Amino acid sequence: MNEHKIPVIIDCDPGIDDSFAIYFALNSSMLDVISIVSVAGNVPLSMTTSNACNLLGLVNSNVPVFAGSDGPLIGDAIEAKYAHGVNGLGGYVFKKEYTNNLQQGNGIEHMARILKSSEQPITIFAIGPLTNIAKLVLAYPDLVGKIDQVVVMGGGVIKGNYSSSAEFNIVADPLAAKVVFDAGLTCKIVPLDTTEYCYFDKEFLQALNQSSSLKAKTLYDIVNAKHNIESKEEDSKFYFHDMVTVMAVTNPQLFEFTPLHVDVELDGKITKGQTVFDQRSFNRQEPNSLLVTTKLREEIVAVASEVLTNE
Ligand code: BDR
Ligand code: CA
Repeated sequence: MNEHKIPVIIDCDPGIDDSFAIYFALNSSMLDVISIVSVAGNVPLSMTTSNACNLLGLVNSNVPVFAGSDGPLIGDAIEAKYAHGVNGLGGYVFKKEYTNNLQQGNGIEHMARILKSSEQPITIFAIGPLTNIAKLVLAYPDLVGKIDQVVVMGGGVIKGNYSSSAEFNIVADPLAAKVVFDAGLTCKIVPLDTTEYCYFDKEFLQALNQSSSLKAKTLYDIVNAKHNIESKEEDSKFYFHDMVTVMAVTNPQLFEFTPLHVDVELDGKITKGQTVFDQRSFNRQEPNSLLVTTKLREEIVAVASEVLTNE
């Protein structure tokens, strides 16, 4: 572990925007990526795991990958192939399959081992459904204190994306989200409102394609497989929710963090998976999270471009 960097585990379901988050984290001089743990989400676990391995193998990273949960705590898995294509990467296919990064053993047990043995508290990026993190805190309550923070891409203050009320990562496992939010952790929540405000444009993507960085070019190719970028209107918007979430840790000066109580609708017929932030002016519940917002989109896009195009 590099003591001058923030030690992080990325729990994810790659995923187009997860790919941006992973390459951004690998390139960031602030982060020491200990491992990647996969979860079923955008696509089934086998694919999120192999996508993570391929992303890392392609760029010769030795960060280990552990497979986590293949479905939510209760109920059936949902998927987001509508947003990420049939294979989770918009149909982009790696020229070869990389399997070297894949480790034996379960991702939740791996996280517990890391937390137990680490002298420094660990940051967990939760950029997929929260199933693995919920299982971790339920099975190992004594290790909650070893988690510095869980930084979640999830929820929405005013709307959802999977449904009008629910954001994908939360509705994919609402009970897990509730368990994590109520676990007494420092939980930073980067909602859709923030990640959609921080949209990216064609110019940003073209700069990735023109750079000499393999990571940047690969990200362009992944988005291009899904969107055929050149055919898009000049003012098209692209959302890389999970990368913006990572940036809330690497570039906290670009964000605001507001303590609030958040709850998750578990049963609602039209609101299942909705996040409800208590913003009342009185009778507010005790905060259990920090809601992450920003007004600095251009600065965020500039940092993302600079970091991703680094060799
Ligand atoms: C979130 O859901 C997934 O589809 C994305 O990867 C992101 O984590 C956005 O709602
Ligand atoms: Ca994701």
